[in-house]
Order: sequence, then structure tokens, then C-alpha cells
Amino acid sequence: MTAECSLKLSKRLKHLDQMVGSGYSHIWDCCCDHGFLGMTLLSRQAAEYVHFVDIVPKLMQEVTANLQRFYPHYISQWHTHCIDVATLPLQQYQGRHLVIIAGVGGDLMMQFVEQIHTAFPQLAIDFLLCPVHHHYALRQTLIKLDFSLYKETLVEDNQRIYEILLVSSAPDKTRKIHAVGEFIWQPNCEEQSLVATKYLTRTLEHYRRMQQSKDVAHIVHAYQAVTIEYAEVD
Ligand SMILES: C[S@@+](CC[C@H](N)C(=O)[O-])C[C@H]1O[C@@H](n2cnc3c(N)ncnc32)[C@H](O)[C@@H]1O
Repeated sequence: MTAECSLKLSKRLKHLDQMVGSGYSHIWDCCCDHGFLGMTLLSRQAAEYVHFVDIVPKLMQEVTANLQRFYPHYISQWHTHCIDVATLPLQQYQGRHLVIIAGVGGDLMMQFVEQIHTAFPQLAIDFLLCPVHHHYALRQTLIKLDFSLYKETLVEDNQRIYEILLVSSAPDKTRKIHAVGEFIWQPNCEEQSLVATKYLTRTLEHYRRMQQSKDVAHIVHAYQAVTIEYAEVD
């Protein structure tokens, strides 16, 4: 890292950055690792405060040192927390929260989301989630918790395809989360259509392989029922 704003984000992290809208008091870059996403959000003043969270002390010391060095103008707008994501201290901060969790397995992510929601059942929290694997199980958890959907998209980065979900812990019957996704199968350009087709093929192959040792027939059926509806937008 050389200076503020010179971060070269991966395609996946760029997509996550683009999905962060305005109006948040606190954005939590959880499992932040080197903190690149949070630093990008800080640079563009995406929220009043950006929080960097990771469980590894050495990483958080480095992130803190880099923030002090490269972001001196924003010194009162960031906080670093060397804690387990499951224990986010949201009660200490007033206002609207966006919790970003990316780059960890969907199984771990399910636990984090459930633990945070259990700790703050009355708080409407937005979550921006980008798991590695276990998308179906993560969606099942979000449905069980009665979360609602704002946006979902697919991003291909370095030969892998990721789902990104922007959801809220506040229930809304008009914005239900679908078990295998809905809008991710409605691409509006040729590139997205190719990504969706590839993702559907890979996902079906994955669950068909798994079917040899586990009862996942219902998941195979759910993905088999998906049709990709490509509607080009001028
Ligand atoms: C692969 S990095 C993800 C970095 C970044 N979020 C991304 O999407 O590229 C995963 C990070 O999660 C952190 N992590 C794992 N379990 C955690 C937990 N329970 N609480 C906080 N951080 C955790 C690890 O220390 C590591 O830095």
C-alpha cells in the first residue's frame, strides 16, 4: 500500500464496494483481513464511521498502523476492533448499521449472522454477504430468520463465481429471499448471462456429485427448476 485511494481491489471487493449505498451511520468491515474494502469505503466517505473487525491481533495492529499512516484526515471516522465477529458491539453505536461479511465460508457466515441477530433482535441491521461456498445453506438460514432481500448478484473473479447478497434483518413479505436466488437468474447483459449459465451448471454438478453420499435431492431439484431469463437493457 502506498497512499490513500491507491488500493487495487479485486473484482469481488469492487462489486461489494459498489453495492454499498448511502445513509449508514456505521459500516462494519468484518473479517477485514488487510482492511482494503473498509479503507475504500472510508476514502469515499460511505458512512459516518467505518469499523474494521478481525480476530487476528497482528492483522488488526497492521490495519491500525496503516489507517494512522494513510488516512490521517479521517482519524475520527474509523475504529478497529480485534474481536470475534459474533460479538459485534453494535449497542455502543447509535444509528443505521451495515455489517459486511465476505471471504469466509457460508457455514461460518451463517453462525455470525445468527449470533448477531440473536444479540440484537429488535435492531434492523443490513448485511452485505459474500460467502465462499454453502450459498444454499446460508440462504436457508436467512429465510429461517425471516430476513428480507434488497439485492443479489453474481460476480466472477479469478475463475470463481460468488453470490453477493444485500439483506436486512427486518422482515418484509414483498422482498422474500429465495432458496436458490431469483434476480441472479435474470441477467441484463450478455456477460452476466454467461456468468449465470456457468454458475448454474457448476452448482448443479456440485450437488449431483454430492448426491452420491448425501441426501441433497431437494437441492438438485430446486436448481434444476431454475431458468435463466436474459433481458437485455438498452
Ligand atoms: C480470507 S479473509 C477475508 C478478507 C476479506 N473480507 C475478503 O473478502 O477478501 C478471512 C478473514 O476472516 C478472519 N476471521 C476468521 N474468523 C473470524 C472471526 N470469528 N471473527 C473475526 N474475524 C475472523 C480471518 O482472520 C481472516 O483475516
